[in-house]
Amino acid sequence: MKPIAIELRKGVHWVGVKDWGRRMFDGLIPLPHGTSYNAYLVQGEKTALVDTVNPGFEGELLAKIGAITDPATLDYVIMNHAEPDHAGAIPIVLAASPQARLVLTAKGADMAARYYQVPRERMQVVTDADMLDLGGKTLRFVDAPFLHWPETMFTYLAEDKILFPCDFFGSHTAAGVYDDEVADLPVRAQMYFGEIMMPFHKAGERALKKLTDLPIELIAPSHGPLWRHPERILDLYRKWTAGETLPKAVVAYVSMWGSTERLVRIVAETLLGEGIRVAVHDLAQVDVGDLAGDLVDGRALVLGAPTVLGGLHPAALNAANLIRALKPPLKYAAVLSSHGWAGGAVRQAQEILAPTGIELIGALGVHGRATEEEENAARSLAEELANRIKGER
Ligand code: FEO
Repeated sequence: MKPIAIELRKGVHWVGVKDWGRRMFDGLIPLPHGTSYNAYLVQGEKTALVDTVNPGFEGELLAKIGAITDPATLDYVIMNHAEPDHAGAIPIVLAASPQARLVLTAKGADMAARYYQVPRERMQVVTDADMLDLGGKTLRFVDAPFLHWPETMFTYLAEDKILFPCDFFGSHTAAGVYDDEVADLPVRAQMYFGEIMMPFHKAGERALKKLTDLPIELIAPSHGPLWRHPERILDLYRKWTAGETLPKAVVAYVSMWGSTERLVRIVAETLLGEGIRVAVHDLAQVDVGDLAGDLVDGRALVLGAPTVLGGLHPAALNAANLIRALKPPLKYAAVLSSHGWAGGAVRQAQEILAPTGIELIGALGVHGRATEEEENAARSLAEELANRIKGER
């Protein structure tokens, strides 16, 4: 197969890899559309490779570089991020390019030494606003820690106004080269933000402020299509990192014999009747990405779960812990539960949600199937939640 490198600008090529068949990331995130590991070759008088690819694709990367220039002649490899999906090919690239230096942050240097056994003498540590003159192409580095790990940075190509932000602004899809070629890309990007960036939204806000000084014509992340309409993703990230929410409830539930589901349906339909957007996820078969995407702009959570062995049904326990870890901008929550002989789910849900700052508007636990009185209580709880979501008391 002839290696395809895509010219983005004169002297700037995409030399990444599309992993169409990958279906799971980090053992947690489903990838129904695969993903890509984008790497970029920047050529002035000297040549720099910006990021590498996932282990297993080193040969494809070197072949794509080889379609443009001899891989043995690289002068620099820029490591924006040490995670193996971008840095895993570094040992093989450095072996193929004996004089290339690895450019990275100080924290990145420790990680490159530990994870990839890169000798310190081959590293060049950079910090915020440092420049690297390639001769006709100038790279500027932007400290952007915790997007996604502590060592992360962005690289900016001044002459072409291209930002290489690695994970930031990414999306997990192998489709397309540019943003306007993938119809559902904003949805994919929102899921990705929820999965990867939402816990670091404050770091994201800080990074966006830094970028206001830089004219950007192309955002070239390391996953998913490139944003040749940068304002599309910048606008979305301004909202998402700021925690802007919609009048929307994320209803996450699991049911065994239908009693919890009945409460969930009453609450969901009451919310809809009150003009609230409702996103329902059955936790027994949920795609974590779908749930994470809805949490990015949801204002309220409705958690529904029966009691199993004295606590939350395990699917709901897992989801509640995940929600706490992802730090979504949820303001309000309600808990719905049923039990066969003794409760416990409501108490455990309250314990997990307590440290999040999400205000628990109410909890309803029923013994078996809800009575008419309990169903009315569920409607009242939904109405109260709707009022809070709408900003009414
Ligand atoms: Fe795509 Fe954090 O690596």
